[in-house]
Amino acid sequence: MASGRRASVTVLLCSLCCATFAVILRTIDNDVWVNEFDSIELTCFIESISTNSPRIEWKKIKNGVPSYVYFQNKISGDLENRALLIEPANLLIPNVSRSDSAMYRCEVAAFDDLKPFDEILIRLAVRVKPVVPQCSVPSSVTAGHFTELRCKESQGYPLPHYQWFRDNEELPEDPKTSIRFYNSSYVMNAKTGSLKFRAVRKEDAGEYHCQARNDAGYENCAPQLMEVYDSDIGMLVLKIAAGVMSFILLTAGLRLARKHICCSRRDRRENDYRVPQCDSGKDCVSADEGHFQHKPSFVV
Ligand SMILES: *[C@@H]1O[C@H](CO)[C@@H](O)[C@H](O)[C@H]1NC(C)=O
Ligand SMILES: *[C@@H]1O[C@H](CO)[C@@H](O)[C@H](O)[C@H]1NC(C)=O
Repeated sequence: MASGRRASVTVLLCSLCCATFAVILRTIDNDVWVNEFDSIELTCFIESISTNSPRIEWKKIKNGVPSYVYFQNKISGDLENRALLIEPANLLIPNVSRSDSAMYRCEVAAFDDLKPFDEILIRLAVRVKPVVPQCSVPSSVTAGHFTELRCKESQGYPLPHYQWFRDNEELPEDPKTSIRFYNSSYVMNAKTGSLKFRAVRKEDAGEYHCQARNDAGYENCAPQLMEVYDSDIGMLVLKIAAGVMSFILLTAGLRLARKHICCSRRDRRENDYRVPQCDSGKDCVSADEGHFQHKPSFVV
């Protein structure tokens, strides 16, 4: 709009005072995003000028400090051998590096013109693909306990978002939105990469991996196994107690069985149809073998 008005004013002035011109520049985009290692052309079109050999300069302004990029018809500074001037004044960077993120100023001068100078400012932001994130997944945790998984990446620009996967299945940011993860107690933070289980469950066990992603691309860390044990101390004590009890009962059972065998052998010798009985009576408890055989299995 403004340049259009300026242009029409220039046309008016020109028609008034004949062969007098003004320098007017235009760009396609003054807020440019590009992926690292891609090619970019910063445009600086000359809309109006009198001479066909104007003075053209490009400056790079980083942290407020300007330096020459194109000066005295040469590419200089840190873009030397990495950039080209495309006629009349565009700056082409065939393989952008992350250090090229800066403000760039195209300045064109034609001293005989009525308005002898114009400049445009372009912001160049280089997107950097994330590197493989560092993931920390506890290898074994106890059911019911708080557990945190972490994922971090340091190179990506803009800052990457993090996504967690269990057995290659993406975890929804909110478990309540999925039937599959509905009962899981995790809270995921896509900005920090943390995955916190308030109380981890047996069902949360699996191979976890994380992905760091931004507009330039993504990277995954290798899956790591997280096992979940329900070995609560109380449960552990109960299990040991049950084990000891069944051992005692089994031993007692075996002793009784041996006695019973000896008794029935003696009984059979004495009288085949009589109910088994021992001499002492109380040593030979019963002929019902199942009575003491099922006892240990019942406890175990
Ligand atoms: C771009 O530059 C990087 C180093 O900054 C280099 O590794 C890569 O091969 C270059 N790519 C091309 C297509 O020249
Ligand atoms: C979640 O828990 C409820 C109640 O315990 C149960 O009925 C349901 O099947 C569970 N869902 C999943 C996906 O495990």
